Parts: sequence; structure tokens; C-alpha cells
Amino acid sequence: MNKVPNHVAIIMDGNGRWATNRGLVRTEGHRKGAYMLEKLAVHILNTGTKYLTVYAFSTDNFKRPETEVTFLMNLFIKMFKSEMDNIIKNDIKVVFSGRKENLRDDVLEAMEYVSNKSKNNKKGILNICLNYGSQEEIVDATKKIVKDVQDGIINIDDIDKEMYYKYMYKDLPPIDLMIRTSGEQRLSNFMLYQLTYSELYFTDTYFPDFDEKEYDKAIDAYNNRDRRFGKIKDGSENK
Ligand code: FPP
Repeated sequence: MNKVPNHVAIIMDGNGRWATNRGLVRTEGHRKGAYMLEKLAVHILNTGTKYLTVYAFSTDNFKRPETEVTFLMNLFIKMFKSEMDNIIKNDIKVVFSGRKENLRDDVLEAMEYVSNKSKNNKKGILNICLNYGSQEEIVDATKKIVKDVQDGIINIDDIDKEMYYKYMYKDLPPIDLMIRTSGEQRLSNFMLYQLTYSELYFTDTYFPDFDEKEYDKAIDAYNNRDRRFGKIKDGSENK
């Protein structure tokens, strides 16, 4: 029987190259990617996976040309305000991870809008990383922990690996499968703490072409992996 990962994460890479290869402007790749994400999130969370985390915009993506940053921010607003009906209808709750600072008010407002609209949904959680950096997340979590120690809410000896999850932007379980599209094989400051024992799957397919069929190939690969979490293979102690 197929194992279904509880928490899947995707680095949605290759939008720009997808567009350039077709003689289109890079931003067309982002537009196509956004629509693919909507379809894919419904598919993934309908297979029994409970959490899907996607990397939509890193803190470092602000270093891209202003026109591309503006296009992406406007695309996010459009998606969150009016193009995520399928996600909402499919009982998926949308949450966000990342820093709020540097984001425009209208972007924050659109994030708030879709979070509110989907807040009672139960089938699964789509966690969108926007203005996100993993080292930043660990630093921010550490500051909150130190503050709670100073305020006497927790003791220093209470701090352990599990507690860190509760102080992340969103308290979600560890990631079981991380997919990066477009042939790049890097983590790019994404979910470093939560990926500790994750299986990693890299594909040359650009994100706008990464459809349900491509996802199912990743699941087949995941099912052929032997996850040991530092132990040896089950039942092989005496061999
Ligand atoms: C990386 O491709 C992709 C991004 C920086 C943006 C990802 C955003 C989306 C897929 C839209 C998401 C939409 C919602 C609603 C959250 P790239 O531009 O680095 O591609 P390249 O490596 O080919 O240049």
C-alpha cells in the first residue's frame, strides 16, 4: 500500500525559465505557476496529506528587479482575493509563514482576507511561505523563547527540540517529503529545522509543468525510500 506523507513541502522553482523558453516574459511563468499551485494543492490535500507548505517568496526575492517584485505582489493579491475558490471549496485552510515587515499593506490585507475566509476549513492546511527565510524564522523563534523565559512563562530547562516547533511562524509537524522543481538541488533557506528527516525529491520539470501526474511520480519515489530516522532497517538487528 502507498504511504501518504503527512506534510509535503515544495520549492516552486523554474517559472522564469519556463516562460523564457517559450519566448514569453518571465512573469507569465509566475502567473502559470500560481494557477498550477491551486490545482496541485487540491490534488495533494485530497490524497490524505494534511499539510502542504510552499515557498512563494523568500526574503531574498526582494532583491529581484522592482517590476518583477511588483508583479508578484499584485499576483498574490489577485490570487488571495479572488482566485482561490477551489482551495476554499475543498475545505482547505490557508495560513502564512514569514515576516510581515516590508510587505505592502494591500498584500497583508489580501493575506488576512484568505486566512479569514478559510479559517474554519478542516481537510488540510496550505502554508504559504511569503517574505520567508528559514534562518530568520529560527532567529525569530529564539527571540520569542528568550522573551518567554524572561517573562517567567517557561523555564530554560523546558526548551527542547519539540518546543521549537511551537515557536515557529506556524506550529506544523516535521516535513516528510520536500520537492524542488527545475533541476536545482539546494535548500535556499527553506524550512531548515522542519526538513531534518525529510526525503528530498528533485525533478528537472519546471513548476508551471509540475502537474498532478508529476506529483504522483514524486510519491512513487517517496514510497521507494527507506526512512530510518537514524535507526537501522526494521527487523535487520540480527543480520
Ligand atoms: C521561482 O521561480 C518562483 C518564484 C520566486 C515565485 C513562486 C511563485 C508562484 C509559483 C506563484 C505562487 C502563487 C501563490 C498564489 C502563492 P524563478 O522565478 O526563480 O524561476 P527561474 O529560476 O527559472 O528564474
